[in-house]
Amino acid sequence: MDSIEEYIIEHIDEEPGLLKQIYREAHLKLLHGGMSSGHLQGRLLKMLVQMIRPSRVLEIGTYTGYSALCIAEGLEDNASLETIEIDDEMEDIIRDNFSRSSFSDRIKLIIGDANEVVLNYDDSTFDLVFMDGNKRDYMQLYEKILPKIKHGGFIIADNTLWHGKVLEEPKSNDWQTKGVLEFNDHLKGDNRVEKVILAVRDGLTLIRKK
Ligand SMILES: C[S@@+](CC[C@H](N)C(=O)[O-])C[C@H]1O[C@@H](n2cnc3c(N)ncnc32)[C@H](O)[C@@H]1O
Repeated sequence: MDSIEEYIIEHIDEEPGLLKQIYREAHLKLLHGGMSSGHLQGRLLKMLVQMIRPSRVLEIGTYTGYSALCIAEGLEDNASLETIEIDDEMEDIIRDNFSRSSFSDRIKLIIGDANEVVLNYDDSTFDLVFMDGNKRDYMQLYEKILPKIKHGGFIIADNTLWHGKVLEEPKSNDWQTKGVLEFNDHLKGDNRVEKVILAVRDGLTLIRKK
């Protein structure tokens, strides 16, 4: 962690104890623990949710449930989050993590492929979608999600600076970097939305449907 990030962490809200534990457990027990949101991004997600005040939120890519719990923490009473995870081996961990939280009643877990699941929703269903699944699919998934968002609603897309790799020519087999580049270029020319990229952690793109 660089010193600016350390400084930020020292001067923002504390990371709740349960989230600290979930983050630690992901790094100890799972192969790709680094995929989890952490202290700064988690507090930012909660804050963005409090600002947007969505009634219905969708998350693509639950992993351990860290970001889902941050989103749920920011929701108002009666608002809800649906979160989709393709890896059924994560289900027990996710359900256990949710069960330890006082926000679990706001969250519904769906095990499945978001590329298929999103097609089941009516148009204009969601006020906010947090996109954090496979970077290879970002553009195709975005096109499926956009109709499902209300006008004036938001998408937050994670990892859009992809460890700085967006500045380099991708290797021919680096499909993740190619996916992020394709998504960023596509979004730049998309007049249906307004967009801004935040250089927080691995890059977060805030997208507002006009
Ligand atoms: C970066 S992790 C998510 C981290 C989590 N949102 C957080 O911030 O704590 C990405 C997750 O997306 C899941 N995933 C990838 N492709 C998916 C798809 N098509 N549908 C649903 N989940 C998917 C992966 O299995 C993985 O658990």
